[in-house]
Amino acid sequence: MKFFIDTANLAQIKEANELGILDGVTTNPSLMAKEGIKGNEAVMNHYKAICEMVDGDISAEVIATDFNGIVEEGKKLAAIHPNIIVKVPMIKDGVKALKYFSDNGIKTNCTLVFSAGQAILAAKAGATYVSPFIGRIDDSSWDGVELIAQMAQIYSIQGYKTEILAASIRSALHIVKCAEAGADVCTCPLESILGLLKHPLTDIGLAKFLEDAKKTA
Ligand code: G3P
Repeated sequence: MKFFIDTANLAQIKEANELGILDGVTTNPSLMAKEGIKGNEAVMNHYKAICEMVDGDISAEVIATDFNGIVEEGKKLAAIHPNIIVKVPMIKDGVKALKYFSDNGIKTNCTLVFSAGQAILAAKAGATYVSPFIGRIDDSSWDGVELIAQMAQIYSIQGYKTEILAASIRSALHIVKCAEAGADVCTCPLESILGLLKHPLTDIGLAKFLEDAKKTA
């Protein structure tokens, strides 16, 4: 399973990248706004900065919701850097645009996916990645990880090439469960990635080793 970080914060991207396990970055308009990025030029420059930091797929989301607007915006985003993945919402014109981008060699990430039906449409349209938002599904008292498992089964039976990118991750346990359910990629906040490190027996064991090492010094 590939690891992406789900943020537009350059310090967090740097920290995750320095771990050596990062395969890419996902952003969205909310994450860009959180960093105070304002204006088209600043947005473009921020994507460029991320692409220069991380050697991997970088998702940049379109704001347009009509076919022509999505295509125009997507082309501009794709021109920033060869690693840009154009993020397109799961709406009717979005599906049309996914097919257009797929036919024209532009990689995509279909976002705001909450059902297996939507996941089938994204795959049929040739999306490179599909992003089910598992945390938001859990927030609505449905089971996000169950959707990942269902999608993995359907994609395997049907031979779809689209990669399942588990998004809206809220915990280290979500990452483990997504890996178990067959996600190809997990995009996570830094905190959840670092959460994978934690185990009290590791801390206790290390303290004991260091204490005993003094006896051999
Ligand atoms: O990048 C999209 C997704 O990961 C959003 O997560 O936490 O806002 O539901 P969240």
